Amino acid sequence: MLVNESQILAALGTVMEPDLGSDLVSLGMISDVAVDQAGNVSFTVTLTTPACPMKESIKQSCISAIRAGVPDAGSIDVKMDAKVTSSCSHHGGHGGHHGHAGHGGHGAPQRIQLDKVRNIIAVASGKGGVGKSTVAVNLAVSLAESGAKVGLIDADLYGPSIPTMFGLQDARPELVEGKLIPIEQYGVKLMSIGFLVDSETALIWRGPMASSAIRQLITDVDWQELDYLIFDLPPGTGDIQLTLVQALPLTGTVIVTTPQDVALADVAKAVTMFRKVEVPILGVVENMSWYELPDGTKDYIFGKQGGEKFAKSNALPFLGSIPIGGAVREGGDSGKPAIIGNPEAPTSVAARKVAGEIARQVSILNASCAN
Ligand SMILES: Nc1ncnc2c1ncn2[C@@H]1O[C@H](COP(=O)(O)OP(=O)(O)OP(=O)(O)O)[C@@H](O)[C@H]1O
Ligand SMILES: [Mg+2]
Repeated sequence: MLVNESQILAALGTVMEPDLGSDLVSLGMISDVAVDQAGNVSFTVTLTTPACPMKESIKQSCISAIRAGVPDAGSIDVKMDAKVTSSCSHHGGHGGHHGHAGHGGHGAPQRIQLDKVRNIIAVASGKGGVGKSTVAVNLAVSLAESGAKVGLIDADLYGPSIPTMFGLQDARPELVEGKLIPIEQYGVKLMSIGFLVDSETALIWRGPMASSAIRQLITDVDWQELDYLIFDLPPGTGDIQLTLVQALPLTGTVIVTTPQDVALADVAKAVTMFRKVEVPILGVVENMSWYELPDGTKDYIFGKQGGEKFAKSNALPFLGSIPIGGAVREGGDSGKPAIIGNPEAPTSVAARKVAGEIARQVSILNASCAN
């Protein structure tokens, strides 16, 4: 036999995983290496997320490494697979109990345990109306589209928007053995207060009532196994937000802003809150970044790159920009997220890229604790 498996492994051992600082073989990402009589090679690369933005380039690097290191190799069949890693918070990595100190008046809420949920990502903002729900929905749908198991919780008691955005205004979840069954749409498992009570009922809830209602959206729901559970937080940095981020074993949070709102103290306040309770900030998404004119030029009506500059000055990853687009608003109203209804629109392409970047930051974070 001209070619053997150890030669293949040696060649793949020269391919670095761009984010995790080691090679694919050492990271245990290569399996099922096989070489047939004719020297044809096949193997599987298991990434840490199916939404990995470097998927194609990693595949090409594997092929190049084998071509260079094993010149006698025949055809090369690379199977790309993914197994999403679990959040450090499963291992008591961040937050823990000391993070709760300093919040006057409230006892530290007991942490919710969700053993079958690998990562919980909260989408937050300093103020309302910046596109938090839009980002959360398109993130959830993109990750599901890539092959991940995804759930989405609408934690906005006073203005739940997810039922409308998914065209499920009249949906009512089933109750089976004391647990609510999430409603599945576009490959995403959904739960919203909007499915359970009419808006007038939710409006009178305040403080502990509101917090316990939101806790129930998590604990009383049969989520099954999930790679990512996305949490659309209510706007701002009030008591509900604080209670929630303390109660949830969050992997991290994504902060959404528009270019002009970044100048407001509210965004900095959100960053301060998450840092205080030791919830990792996965990064900043800038929404409504520009408007594309019919001739293709970009009109930065709200200022340029505010989100990116803010991320940089706060030492946070910048997760990308989403332009202003008709498809987004139409998507929100029609009950079909832009990514599904208008997959090639600039906003959809941008939102998918942001999702990949978020998944990537989650993988990097999870690699920093033993999985
Ligand atoms: N990139 C975009 N292009 C065009 N319209 C957008 C974009 N992002 C959001 N919108 C629109 O702006 C409005 C507010 O967006 P969204 O509801 O996502 O914000 P939010 O931050 O969740 O608001 P709230 O604080 O009320 O929860 C919606 O009508 C939405 O369709
Ligand atoms: Mg919202």
